[in-house]
Amino acid sequence: RPRVFSAMQPTADSLHLGNYLGALRQWVALQETHDAIYSVVDLHALTVAPDPQALRTRSRVTAAQYLAAGVDPERSVLFVQSHVAEHAELAWVLGCLTGFGEASRMTQFKDKSAKQGAEGTTVGLFTYPVLMAADILLYDTDVVPVGEDQRQHLELSRDLAQRLNARFGPLVTVPEAHIVKATAKIYDLAEPTAKMSKSGNPSGLIELLDDEKVVAKRIRSAVTDTETVVRFDPVHKPGVSNLLTIHSALSGVPVAELEAEFEGKMYGHLKVAVADVVVTALRPLRERVAELMADPAELDEILADGAARARVIARETLARVYDAVGLVPPA
Ligand code: TYM
Repeated sequence: RPRVFSAMQPTADSLHLGNYLGALRQWVALQETHDAIYSVVDLHALTVAPDPQALRTRSRVTAAQYLAAGVDPERSVLFVQSHVAEHAELAWVLGCLTGFGEASRMTQFKDKSAKQGAEGTTVGLFTYPVLMAADILLYDTDVVPVGEDQRQHLELSRDLAQRLNARFGPLVTVPEAHIVKATAKIYDLAEPTAKMSKSGNPSGLIELLDDEKVVAKRIRSAVTDTETVVRFDPVHKPGVSNLLTIHSALSGVPVAELEAEFEGKMYGHLKVAVADVVVTALRPLRERVAELMADPAELDEILADGAARARVIARETLARVYDAVGLVPPA
């Protein structure tokens, strides 16, 4: 079976609807046909200088959301990145193959470092995509399900895999991005031309673990436009189109049918329907997360088992790479 690998950063108390529709849902589907490995990338989260206690809690609650969404630990490997030391080790080797200019061109780095200024920008933020490449290449990954915002990072992973192979003989699999067009970019409800993000406008965010009333209220307050026609047109009607995308992705009703259903109706009707679909979809997920968090021992056991399984693969890849680049094997 081809291998799938993906990961999220534990940088918030809850994942949001963009994480779920853009990535997590694809992970669950892909475990049917692929050998699946999913990680909570806590080392990546250190780039935003989190509070230590918050980081620990968020790593567990992130893993709990993977499970609650349907990642099955019997079939998929689920682990915390820092439990498998090989990620940081391979990242060093890859960093030595990454051009300074190449890393400087990463748009997420440019955006974040511009916000933080030179002094507030860490080397960790700069080398973040190299660590991401290590995550992927360690497992000879074929497919990486992510949202649109990770496309450039995936390109870098591919370039590094190809470079490693060209310089040191066939060593690692060159990964492909798996980006599902319809849900590759979920937009902020309050500012529907910006992607939904944890660092965006809180009123534009739908968190998976949010209170139902908050979720419904944010959807009712979603920014639309001054027309009155429910039509999918992302360029001219980004707010309405985003609501249609969300509804369709969760209800399974094609967008064209939704357009017909809401013909001649006010935006308020669409919003009520979207809120209903979202709240209904998230309820079981939230309940399952609460159960998992009530018994952290079970969760920790799943993560320990996942790390042990991941380590077997990671160790083998790292040994191969270390040998190929000329490091002396330990006697
Ligand atoms: P992160 O933690 O920011 O986001 C997790 C996943 O959610 C997707 N996503 C979205 N999809 C659609 N619409 C949105 N508004 C939206 N916002 C976020 C992201 O594309 C991502 O798939 N660098 C990665 C984490 C990472 C990783 C990896 C991913 C580290 N190592 C290896 C894949 C493979 C990140 O910051 O994702």
